[in-house]
Order: sequence, then C-alpha cells, then structure tokens
Amino acid sequence: MKIAVLPGDGIGSEIVAQALKVLHRLEQDGLRLELEQAPVGGAGYEAAGDPLPEATLKLAQQADAILFGAIGGPQYDALPRDKRPERGLLRLRKELGLFANLRPAMVYPELAAASSLKAEIVAGLDVLIVRELTGDIYFGEPRGIATLAGGEREGVNTMRYRESEIRRIAQVAFEAARKRGKRLCSVDKANVLETTELWKEVVTDFGRSYPDVNLSHMYVDNCAMQLVRNPKQFDVIVTGNLFGDILSDEASMLTGSIGMLPSASLDANNKGLYEPIHGSAPDIAGKGVANPLATILSTAMMLRYSLGNEQAAGRVERAVQQVLREGYRSADIHTPGTRLAGTNEMGDAVVAAL
Ligand code: IPM
Ligand code: MG
Repeated sequence: MKIAVLPGDGIGSEIVAQALKVLHRLEQDGLRLELEQAPVGGAGYEAAGDPLPEATLKLAQQADAILFGAIGGPQYDALPRDKRPERGLLRLRKELGLFANLRPAMVYPELAAASSLKAEIVAGLDVLIVRELTGDIYFGEPRGIATLAGGEREGVNTMRYRESEIRRIAQVAFEAARKRGKRLCSVDKANVLETTELWKEVVTDFGRSYPDVNLSHMYVDNCAMQLVRNPKQFDVIVTGNLFGDILSDEASMLTGSIGMLPSASLDANNKGLYEPIHGSAPDIAGKGVANPLATILSTAMMLRYSLGNEQAAGRVERAVQQVLREGYRSADIHTPGTRLAGTNEMGDAVVAAL
C-alpha cells in the first residue's frame, strides 16, 4: 500500500512524525507500506508557489491513502485566496472526490473530566458526524467579492446541493448508522434555506430503503444547542459541508479537546485522506507540546477504511486508550494528578503500548 504523507504547516510535521512512528512500529510486525512525503498548504506555497503543488496532487492521486497533518498560518493570510494554504486542502478534497467526511467524537472514560461539560453529560459519548465535504457553500458558484456601482463592496457565496450529492452522502450515513446504534439525525436549516429543504426531502426519501434505521431531522441551531445540552441523544449525524464543519468543532470539545478528534475523508471507493480535525495551531508550533493523538487515531481510521486492516486499526486504538489509562496527557487534556507529556513523549508512549 502506498501512503502519501502530507505534513503541511504549523504543528503538522510534529504530529505526523508521531503517526509515522506508529506505522513504523506496525511495519515491524509485517505491515507493508510505501511512504512518500510531499509539501502541501503553506509548505507547498513555499516549495512550489502553490498550496497544492502538481507533484503533491499526483502523489495523492497515485496513493492508496493520504496521511495529512494540518495547514495554515498567519504569515499566509495576506496571499491571494487561491494561494492560501486552505485552498490546497479544499482542492485536494475536490480533485480526489473525497465527499464523505467521517468525524467520530468519542469520550474516553479517562478524559471525561477534561471536557468543559460536566462529566455525567459526556461520559460514554460516542457520536459519528458524517459531513458532506465537496459541495455546499464551500464550492458553490458564483462566489467572490465584487465592487458595486456606488463603490461599496459585496461578498457573495452560494449554497448549492444536487440531489445526487445528497443521496450519496445519505447512503454513507445510513450504512454507518446501520453498523452502529441505528439512529440517524439529519441536520438542516429547512425552515429558512431551500437548499437544505431539498436536503431534508432527499434524505427522507432515501431513508425508505433503510427501515431498520431510525431517521430524525433537526435544525442546525437546535443541534448546536442539543450537542451541549444532551449530546448522548445522538448516534450518527449527517449534514452538509458548512454545518458539519461547525458542529464537528463543537462536538470535539465534548471529548475534552479538539486534539483528540480524527477524521477520514473518503471517495466512492474508500480511498481516503486522514487528518486530525484541528488546525495547524501556529501558536504552539515548534514547541513540542501539541497533542498527536488525533493524528494517531486518524492513522487507525486509515488502516480500517483504506487498508482494510481492522486488526491493526483496533491495536492502535487500544494503544491510545492504554496510554490515557497510564495517565499520559498532553497539555490540552492535562488535569491535576495526570502526567504532563510533550508531543514526542505521547508518541513514544503509544509505540510502547503497541
Ligand atoms: C476542517 C477545517 C477546514 C474546513 C479548513 C482548514 C479549510 O476547518 O477540516 O474542518 O473548513 O473544512
Ligand atoms: Mg473545521
């Protein structure tokens, strides 16, 4: 299996280095991998003047899976939009057709006290957010900033979804729900937005072939509230690109830290890009304090979904849990009485647990 390794910017290289340690440890037990690195985001811009250099895109296209760190940094904010790091990631998702973004939010019993919510609200939480990733207002045309006749400027973005786009993400979500708690909540803003009125209608129709899955609908504002009021009511949530972006950051805080949430972005054939849901955290980059667990858990998702190696995936997840049980904590999840560990030490502890 060929893995494209794209560390990106900020803490990206530090956290990806820990995930690579984990993969190298699995290689000792017979996992056969070919790993190749390439620059993306700000690093891509610096290397080739493009946040998604041609060679990086080619490598990603040829690979069976992509391990991605994080992109972005304040030094790139003034670049023209198409040169900014985020464009690199968005183009990669679009070019590779990675429309299904799976973002599981699980509360490890050891971390229930690290959440900003009361432990009893989050203990045992296990939610999967299925976020559509290649449509919606992220990609809809027309878009841009135009100057109107009087000289005033106007910003425009367009929320669009086709039935076929809604149907294929609904299928991923129903299939996922079927393998879990058999409850699916589709999140929309159908009371205001026609795009999501269609979303609701198509998901409802599609759901008729999944009588075993209990489908419900919720407006996005209510969902944002319910996630902090009673998050354990959810099993699988399916939603569009923008709402999914926001709700998954919110859900991450239930688990103790955004530094714990992995993600998989899959195409129709389970080829995927695997990345932590957090960003490049420029404020702590280079300090060796970032939490590598979201990236290591993303590696587990890669083993499961793209490499079809459930056994290795489970091993990595159990190793992470053991490390937490042993009391290791990076700064973001550190609570009194636990052992503060840097990025490297956390990675080494996972390798030792393996
Ligand atoms: C995410 C990120 C990206 C997004 C950014 C970096 C473009 O926030 O993966 O959630 O908005 O999708
Ligand atoms: Mg986001």
